[in-house]
Amino acid sequence: MIADRVDILLSADAIQQRIDQLAAEIRTDYGDNPFLMVVVLKGSFIFAADLARRLPESTQIDFVQVSSYADQKSSSGVVQIRKDLDITVEGKHVLIVEDIVDTGLTLGHLRELFATRKPASLRVVALLNKPDAQAKPAEIEYVGFQIPNEFVVGYGLDYAERYRNLPFVAVLRSE
Ligand code: PRP
Repeated sequence: MIADRVDILLSADAIQQRIDQLAAEIRTDYGDNPFLMVVVLKGSFIFAADLARRLPESTQIDFVQVSSYADQKSSSGVVQIRKDLDITVEGKHVLIVEDIVDTGLTLGHLRELFATRKPASLRVVALLNKPDAQAKPAEIEYVGFQIPNEFVVGYGLDYAERYRNLPFVAVLRSE
């Protein structure tokens, strides 16, 4: 059997402290304007849950599922919409919530898609960003952590649907 080794990259405490800061920044920037969190399933579910509980009670939350990875460790370059939003974004301030921006392909696709739906504004918060994996820098208004170009799991991120429930972010190495 091939065993996996996880090396902690970001501790649970470090993540929670950074989310405090991100939420404070977002609250300041939006002020009295209510906004819609568009949570990108599945990986963002834990980050979104922690972030949402630090945001105003006027915040709306809906979900999309876009998948590009299947059970592989690297992007296939194919972006599929598996589940669309239930509510309309027209005229709303939209905040896309991502767990990780890797190549930036998924986010680029989502930005294009939502821009056509006439939101009042469109911003992105991503817990993790991998600049070294991007041909051109992804457009992200709020970044939790810049991380190296390694395969990470935990805090929502999976490998073959495992490890999402780890409270920290770790580099996955096969031994
Ligand atoms: C991950 C992540 C992003 C995307 C980023 O989702 O949540 O949506 O990949 O990769 P990219 O920048 O190279 O496009 P994934 O397709 O693994 O689905 P999951 O969140 O359901 O695990």
